Amino acid sequence: MSDVVRLEFRNVSMRFVEATGQSLTAVAGVSFSVRDGEVVSLIGPSGCGKSTLLNIGSGLYAPSEGEAYVDGERVEGPNAHVAFMLQKDLLLPWRTIVENVMLGVEIQGLPITERKRRAQALLENLGLAEFLDRYPHQLSGGMRQRVALARTLAVDPTVLLLDEPFSAVDAQTRIVLQRELAQTLKRAAKTALLITHDLLEAVTLSDRVLVMSRRPGRIIDEIQVDLPGRDDPIARRHEARVNDYVSRLMDRLDIGHDSLNTAGASA
Ligand SMILES: Nc1ncnc2c1ncn2[C@@H]1O[C@H](COP(=O)(O)OP(=O)(O)OP(=O)(O)O)[C@@H](O)[C@H]1O
Ligand SMILES: [Mg+2]
Repeated sequence: MSDVVRLEFRNVSMRFVEATGQSLTAVAGVSFSVRDGEVVSLIGPSGCGKSTLLNIGSGLYAPSEGEAYVDGERVEGPNAHVAFMLQKDLLLPWRTIVENVMLGVEIQGLPITERKRRAQALLENLGLAEFLDRYPHQLSGGMRQRVALARTLAVDPTVLLLDEPFSAVDAQTRIVLQRELAQTLKRAAKTALLITHDLLEAVTLSDRVLVMSRRPGRIIDEIQVDLPGRDDPIARRHEARVNDYVSRLMDRLDIGHDSLNTAGASA
């Protein structure tokens, strides 16, 4: 990891105007940065503006105030250095699995054989070798999410923005995929911002965890995870100190005192 900042949010606020004409502040005054090769998780109650921030970082939404920067350049629309995986998988139903994964790479203008080779290798790593020529509707929710992850990785971006990438995956597959992702990120020294509701996932995959308040979302805490083996989340699970980190995150999120923790969120 180096000190070069890859992704930065500077005083970002986002207001949405609802159909009723009322305005809703989703996030307020959010500032943080992610350094080269660093993996940072973003956690917070449902509706606090996590996906909104990711959409701003990927250039899909323009913030009402403040700016997002990638590699020091202001984000003004989607760009090739950032790959994102949205909370919905957004696979194209008329394309096969391998064609879906090749999608992002098409835009980069690589030769078709190279594109296909890369897509196949990623799908094989994610356990989908037998499904290359199927269509999205023939796959389970968890498999579709894996395809979406493969598509994100295929672009070989500098910065990855991942919105709950494993939320539809069963618990066992999830552990395997977490390791796959961790190894990929480490091997290629990628910078990543990962949104998750799974506190153990946040601790085992990240260098740092940012905690957001309820809407309007602000960053209320930042926890550096000082554990070995960021490329091996399964080994990290066995570290005794993991529980201390998870407990601290639960305290910050008020879990246990307010079980749903969504008051104030209309979504
Ligand atoms: N395009 C939009 N138009 C209007 N309101 C929006 C829009 N996108 C998000 N919101 C609102 O902004 C708030 C934050 O939504 P966001 O999706 O960012 O939350 P989140 O933290 O990702 O929640 P979850 O954990 O449930 O995914 C919510 O109240 C939501 O209704
Ligand atoms: Mg979300």
